[in-house]
Amino acid sequence: MAGARREEPSMSGQALQSVPDMDDAQFLQWQSLLERRVGVWLPPQRKLFLMSGLLTRMREIGEADYRSYYRRLSGGLEAEYEWAQLIDCLTVHETRFFRDTDSLDLVEAFCRQRLEANQGKPLELWSVGCATGEEPYTLALLMHRLRESRGHFYYGVTGIDISFPALAAAREGIYHRRKLETVPDGLRERCFLAKGDDYFQLIPEIRARVLFVQGNMVDNKAAPEHRYDVIYCQNVLIYFQPDRRQQILSILAERLAPGGLLVLAPGEMMDWQPPSLERVSHAQSLAFTRR
Ligand SMILES: C[S@@+](CC[C@H](N)C(=O)[O-])C[C@H]1O[C@@H](n2cnc3c(N)ncnc32)[C@H](O)[C@@H]1O
Repeated sequence: MAGARREEPSMSGQALQSVPDMDDAQFLQWQSLLERRVGVWLPPQRKLFLMSGLLTRMREIGEADYRSYYRRLSGGLEAEYEWAQLIDCLTVHETRFFRDTDSLDLVEAFCRQRLEANQGKPLELWSVGCATGEEPYTLALLMHRLRESRGHFYYGVTGIDISFPALAAAREGIYHRRKLETVPDGLRERCFLAKGDDYFQLIPEIRARVLFVQGNMVDNKAAPEHRYDVIYCQNVLIYFQPDRRQQILSILAERLAPGGLLVLAPGEMMDWQPPSLERVSHAQSLAFTRR
C-alpha cells in the first residue's frame, strides 16, 4: 500500500559496519551510470544514499559485490529488468497531498479562468515525476471541487514517473490515514472511502480521471505527444544537473498548450526564461504561461 512505501533509504551505524566499502573510482562509475540512464545526479555527499540503495537491491537478489552487480547492469534483457528494479531504490519518492498550496491555488484559479474563456472545453493536466500518486490525485481533487462549484466539465490528469513500484502504488490509490491529513476537510470526506481501519482509497470517479504512465524524462520520446493546459513539475528537477534540467524543461515547454500553465517548485530554475514562455507574476510560485 502506498502509505507503507519506503521514502529515502538510510542506514544505521550498526548496519553500516556490515556494508562493503565503495572506493572513489567505483563511486564515479555508479554516479555516471545513474546520470546517463536516469538523469539523477548524486554528489559525493550522497554516496551513503547510493550505497544504501544499491545494497537494498543487491541483498534482494543475493549479490555481494558492487563490481559484479555493475556488470549485471551492463547489457541484455536481464540488465533492463534489473534497472527497472534498481531505479526504485535510487530515486526519492517523497511526496504528499496538497504539498504546495500556493501553487495549487494558482492552478485552481487558472483552470477556473480557462474554463470560462474556453466555454468549458476539457482540461488536460500533467504531473511530471508523480511518485506514488499524491500529486496527480491532488490535481484531480482540485478539478473535482471545481466541477462541484461550477458544473460539469471534462478533465484528465496524466502522471508520469520512472519507478514501476511507485506507479503500482499510485494506481491503487490507497493511502494510510496519516497521508490524508493535508487533504482539505470536505474533500477528504467526499473523495476517499475507508479500506479497513487505517487505509483509505480515492473514489472510483477520481481514479478514473488519472492515468499513470511509466516514462523516463531524460528520454525525449517519453513525454506524451499531447498539449497540456497545466504541466506541474515539482521536486524532480532538483535531482538533475543544470543541462539535464534545461533539456527536460524544453520538452515541457513544447508540450504546453497555447495559454497553458507550467508550474515548477518555488526556487527551482529561477534563471530560466525560454523565449516561448512568459513568467507568471505570483509571489509564492514559480510558473510560466505559453504566449
Ligand atoms: C521527490 S519525488 C516528487 C514527487 C512529486 N512531484 C512531489 O513534488 O510531491 C521525485 C519523483 O521523480 C521521479 N523521477 C526521478 N527521475 C525521473 C526520470 N528521469 N523520469 C521520470 N521520473 C523521474 C522519481 O521516481 C520520484 O518519484
